[in-house]
Amino acid sequence: MNSRCWSPSTVTVVVILSGFLQGCQCHTLNESKQLLTDLLDGYNKNLRPVKNQFMPVVLVVGFELISILDVDEVSQTITIMGTFEFHWADESIKWQPLAYGGLLSFTSSNEQFWTPPIVLTTSSGALKKLGEPWQPIRYDFDGISHFYPSDVFSSVCTMDITNFPYDQHECLLEFVALGYTPEELYMVNSSNKVFLSTYTKNGAWDLIGSEIHVTRIAEFTSTYDVKLIIKRISRFAIMNIFIPLIFLSLLNLVVFFIPVESGERISFCITLLLAIAVLMTIVGDNLPKTSYPMSVFSYYLCGVLTMSNCITLATIFNLSMYYQDESKSVPYLWRMAVKIMRYECLGRRKQETTCGIKSSIIDENTVHPISVVTETDLTNGDTEKRRNSGSGDLKPDIEYIQTENKPDISWKDVSSAFDRVAFSFFFSAFVIGTAVLFGIIIQ
Ligand SMILES: *[C@@H]1O[C@H](CO)[C@@H](O)[C@H](O)[C@H]1NC(C)=O
Ligand SMILES: *[C@@H]1O[C@H](CO)[C@@H](O)[C@H](O)[C@H]1NC(C)=O
Repeated sequence: MNSRCWSPSTVTVVVILSGFLQGCQCHTLNESKQLLTDLLDGYNKNLRPVKNQFMPVVLVVGFELISILDVDEVSQTITIMGTFEFHWADESIKWQPLAYGGLLSFTSSNEQFWTPPIVLTTSSGALKKLGEPWQPIRYDFDGISHFYPSDVFSSVCTMDITNFPYDQHECLLEFVALGYTPEELYMVNSSNKVFLSTYTKNGAWDLIGSEIHVTRIAEFTSTYDVKLIIKRISRFAIMNIFIPLIFLSLLNLVVFFIPVESGERISFCITLLLAIAVLMTIVGDNLPKTSYPMSVFSYYLCGVLTMSNCITLATIFNLSMYYQDESKSVPYLWRMAVKIMRYECLGRRKQETTCGIKSSIIDENTVHPISVVTETDLTNGDTEKRRNSGSGDLKPDIEYIQTENKPDISWKDVSSAFDRVAFSFFFSAFVIGTAVLFGIIIQ
């Protein structure tokens, strides 16, 4: 503190000056007692505090949100801490300040005074009137009251977690003035939003908006609606669920690149399957445990586990093919599949470079009647020209004949072809699945 600014003499002057400006506030405890006794003499807290009972009590209401304590997706409730700001004019509480030593206002517990019977009707617990009896109320000498009851409000809120962890919810807290018609208790909102001057952020939920409406429910009563729009902070789920899961899945896919002879494929698969299963149990604690509506992410998790299972099955199947007895001939269907794959690969390679050399090798190796026929057909015409120009309609024939006649498709070839197909299939399935998931949840 700066001693030059706050020397004792300055303080004295300030105190005296403020005394003058506010009028002499030198009332005694006796005077306060006297005032309270006078005011409460004949006061009935059950009656609306207006002299003319045809007139409404005008209640100005504001709501200050202090914090969002809990959002429970399973029981569909939101728990918040908030303070109401009520102001109304109590016509029975009026006094002449000069008659009571210049007393301008006083504070008391609200037990003996009329307070508005506001109830949270969307409460997820027992209904109770807003404000505890011990909570203080302040009256000015002109009868204006200042009543700020704070409480923890637990309200029902329907939540749609389909887009977890990018979900957003609107929670409506409905406060009803029980027992009074809008003509008797007229509520006025002091703002169209909740006040946030003392708001403390929640670690899991962002408050992205709020609305306040005073609604009349038919003839009977009016409600003070507080709407809170909250959005989940997705970072936790992304860092702790999505990224580990995506990496585990990618790791699972590379099993098809492990050499079969190493004998590690099965153990690799099982280890990853276990890792994903363990991750799922951890993830389960962070996921909304609700079946209606189910989050898209839950389906994705299930899909990842299914994929891991299928990869394991495919690996086992592939191994059984690899170690198949070589004397057993490869079934026609498998041979065809491998041929089609080879044809595609060779076709692609040929387009790139040496079509002529390949074809000549084929010509030398193949000594089959059909091949001879083709050969003669080709040599009759302008073979070289057609080969060099690379017209697509001729090459497939050559390839088909070549592969048809080569008996060297072993079980190992089938196995390696299967590896390629399985990897492409699972990789595309994974990429498409992940893209669809993010496409749905990030809108
Ligand atoms: C306060 O009131 C009591 C009786 O009501 C009286 O005896 C007492 O003198 C008063 N005190 C002051 C300081 O006025
Ligand atoms: C009361 O709420 C309504 C609806 O949200 C709004 O239009 C109006 O401006 C609010 N009144 C005050 C004084 O802010």
